[in-house]
Amino acid sequence: MADPILELEGLTKVYSGGLKALDSVDLNIRKGEIFALLGPNGAGKTTLIGAVCGLVRPTSGTMRAFGHDLAKDWRKARRRIGLVPQELATDMFEPVEHAIAYSRGLFGLPPDKARLEEVLRSLSLWDKRKEQIRALSGGMKRRVLIAKALAHEPDLLFLDEPTAGVDVELRKDMWRQIDAMRARGVTIILTTHYIEEAEEMADRVGIINKGHLLMVDEKDAMMKRLGRTEAHITLAKPMSEIPAIIARFPVELEREGTALCYRGGDGTGKGKAEVAELTKTLTTAGIDYVAIDTHESSLEDIFVSLLGKQEAAV
Ligand SMILES: Nc1ncnc2c1ncn2[C@@H]1O[C@H](COP(=O)(O)OP(=O)(O)O)[C@@H](O)[C@H]1O
Ligand SMILES: [Mg+2]
Repeated sequence: MADPILELEGLTKVYSGGLKALDSVDLNIRKGEIFALLGPNGAGKTTLIGAVCGLVRPTSGTMRAFGHDLAKDWRKARRRIGLVPQELATDMFEPVEHAIAYSRGLFGLPPDKARLEEVLRSLSLWDKRKEQIRALSGGMKRRVLIAKALAHEPDLLFLDEPTAGVDVELRKDMWRQIDAMRARGVTIILTTHYIEEAEEMADRVGIINKGHLLMVDEKDAMMKRLGRTEAHITLAKPMSEIPAIIARFPVELEREGTALCYRGGDGTGKGKAEVAELTKTLTTAGIDYVAIDTHESSLEDIFVSLLGKQEAAV
């Protein structure tokens, strides 16, 4: 693996009330990847981001970014880290272009009109640049936050629930923006509780719940390893038992023998192929069916089952 851009080791945060929001989290982020941190509300996502961005003081653990220990050399790393926060807290009376230019100045960078225009245009904010932020719609306000984070050209960008509360159209648009950032070489860590978002965007996925990082893996590998296929085959004529010719398949009768249910391909990704083989075998044996409904388990199924297992273990 290439040198990680961000290394967290044993990162723990106990808030003053005693709540453990992060429990010994170990995580390495690779250069240029989109990493989705997936977890329900209250899982610890914002706390993790806050710790790296200097907004939350960790209780214990170490954090390194770009090779700098964040506890000692935070300033050296800070310039290279951008954050689009979850909360829409920004100066509502400021014109868009000032807010963004100011953000760049905060990070000690000289004004750069061309860069400002590029950022505004790339986020479709150019026409709105003179408007006060408060006059913009919720989705446009979120774009301003992204523009602020991009204005100082970060190498590592955190997006905390970038699409929470935005409509589907804008969400897709945001995904394109995020893709374009990746294409420019920005490493992106996004948090979301929309599983679809992780499924669509991420190279790797981390699943967090109650401060525990339960699993980190390549998205495709995770889906293959934990996924399964389920198919319901509605028969032309009901049957009372499974015919010997299909006994080798993981099938059961359901709906009073009017349908066959296949559940298989666990961890192999081969379920679909096996379903095709099963239907071919049925046809060959002269067993007619009228409908097939196939379902590949999604990241959502995996997520729900993992969280369920954690509940059971506590
Ligand atoms: N400043 C704080 N003081 C005390 N508890 C907090 C604070 N911020 C967050 N928490 C608690 O820590 C847990 C994790 O919160 P958070 O990191 O915001 O989760 P997420 O972003 O995944 O929804 C939650 O139980 C939340 O209530
Ligand atoms: Mg949050």
